[in-house]
Amino acid sequence: MCGIVGYVGHREACEFLLDGLRRLEYRGYDSAGVAITDQAGDVSICKTAGRIERLASALASSPLQGSIGIGHTRWATHGPPTEGNAHPHIGGERVVTICHNGVIENFQELKARLETEGYVFQSATDTEVIAHLITDCLEKESSESKVSDSVAPYASLVTAVKAALSQLRGTYGLVVMFRDHPGVIIAARLGSPLVLGIGDDEHFVASDASPLAGYTDKIVYLSDHQVAVITADSVRVTHRDHGEVRHSVENLQVDATDVDLAGYPHYMLKEIFEQPESIKNAMRGRLCEDDATAMFGGLNLTPQQLGSVNRIILTACGTSWHAALLGEYLIEEFARIPVEVEYASELRYRNPPVDPGTLVFAISQSGETADTLGAIREMKRKGHRTLAICNTVGSSIAQEADGGIYLHAGPEIGVASTKAYTSQCMVLSLLALYFGRMRHLSFDAGMRIINEFHALPSKVRAALQTDEESKRIAAKYSGANNFLYLGRQYNFPTALEGALKLKEISYIHAEGYPAAEMKHGPIALVDEATPSVFIVPQGFVYEKVLANIEEVKARGGPVIAIVEHGDTRVAALADDVISVPSVAEFVQPIVSAIPLQLLSYHIALMRGCDIDKPRNLAKSVTVE
Ligand code: M6R
Repeated sequence: MCGIVGYVGHREACEFLLDGLRRLEYRGYDSAGVAITDQAGDVSICKTAGRIERLASALASSPLQGSIGIGHTRWATHGPPTEGNAHPHIGGERVVTICHNGVIENFQELKARLETEGYVFQSATDTEVIAHLITDCLEKESSESKVSDSVAPYASLVTAVKAALSQLRGTYGLVVMFRDHPGVIIAARLGSPLVLGIGDDEHFVASDASPLAGYTDKIVYLSDHQVAVITADSVRVTHRDHGEVRHSVENLQVDATDVDLAGYPHYMLKEIFEQPESIKNAMRGRLCEDDATAMFGGLNLTPQQLGSVNRIILTACGTSWHAALLGEYLIEEFARIPVEVEYASELRYRNPPVDPGTLVFAISQSGETADTLGAIREMKRKGHRTLAICNTVGSSIAQEADGGIYLHAGPEIGVASTKAYTSQCMVLSLLALYFGRMRHLSFDAGMRIINEFHALPSKVRAALQTDEESKRIAAKYSGANNFLYLGRQYNFPTALEGALKLKEISYIHAEGYPAAEMKHGPIALVDEATPSVFIVPQGFVYEKVLANIEEVKARGGPVIAIVEHGDTRVAALADDVISVPSVAEFVQPIVSAIPLQLLSYHIALMRGCDIDKPRNLAKSVTVE
């Protein structure tokens, strides 16, 4: 939530800042701003309510020049999304200018104290308190003047920033510019991600790697409690409470073409169509025909530890939670290990019994979801081994876990998760095979599963051909105000995910249910104006779902069915049918997710919704 950028170097800072904010806009998009220091050392600020393009227009009519600057795109927590509450914020008499991502829990008490000291607040944000606090600490620092800046450059600034940070309770990703030291940016993180980009005589700061693509391929992932001092020709990283930290520079794996639209009208559509490739990437190098199993490089567990696993907890939020639910079905089926699926926001405050044989997986596209991060920390504290299934390399959850598996889906920018979901399903299927082969699954069964996996990317490609049919059906039902999504067994999670996709981008009320559970309540919603979307592939519950379709039809409800090619029985019953390729039951949810994503996309488009930036949402939810 919220995106931060910073630049110090030799080019016009505004160019990178705007470009970077556009790439980070998925993190929040209710207001935006930049601050630039010019050659004389004066800081100018431009802020607008609304999307980045409004900021870009404002800057086009009144350009800000200078080669050091910071910028921010906001998802409001404290204070409405007005220009006044937009970042950057200033401290004291423009002594410092800051952008912040995160939440300061004790801002009210700090604000009250600072107000008694004469600081005047201009906004309703928690962020402004940090700006005045740093100013206050700087003034105290300079009056005491304990450390000379000639000994360690900017030592007094670092001391003041650290003194301010140590008074904050909450989370921050922070960039700070100083009126009296125009060549330096200080960046700090605790609970909100920040990365540094290393260029030639220029340096970049951003909330994630995407703004850096095309500017540099060298990246430093800051960890919690680290404070970086950044100038055009140097980067120093220190620990908030200790001394200097050796930082490692890694190769950036994001390409500029990964983060542009490549001719698609929306990131969501682009990402839907990337799925044959992203699914292939999720299994690349992870299938071992010799042993009819899957293999993973980064689990960091000994064969003994893996063999002693007797319970698995899968924890996640939103779409990732739906993937976890599919994981439960698959792991229990293939490996006979009991699995519990927990909402991360619940797990972190529960107190489940600790058992040394329990393995916890946190599943997260962004790797930054605050609740999932909180849950994994709590589980670690209780002594559980924790692993991450993440898409974003170097993300907080990836860093925090004892080991893990990357999705390799490439950056997902559309707020509605699509390719990350199917990649999560893919990785969990591999995991089920892996644990299954360590236990009950025969070589032969393992090989049959592997063959299904190999065929999957081409089946997903074929499922994308339902685009036109999905568009036709979307036109027929785009006026509906309520939808039901119904599926059983492996496709119960698919139903939940289909409903979430529709509601988050089209604002239509939609509920996902196990198809048979419908008659215990939701069936009361069925009428001529409420379409039910059934996911009804061939399989051992096929006949049962057919009966559930009959129940809806008997009450006058329109039925849209996702079926396998050649299915005539459902076609005779349903009002509209989308047919997808036949695959084994356990991978059918991946194939069936495709027309559901397309259906949501087209309905939202027809209703004039902002597909990639739905109202009230942000891509990574880094607040509780
Ligand atoms: O980055 P994460 O996978 O941890 O995000 C979890 C949810 O916030 C996310 O899946 C959300 O539900 C998406 N907007 C769904 O499309």
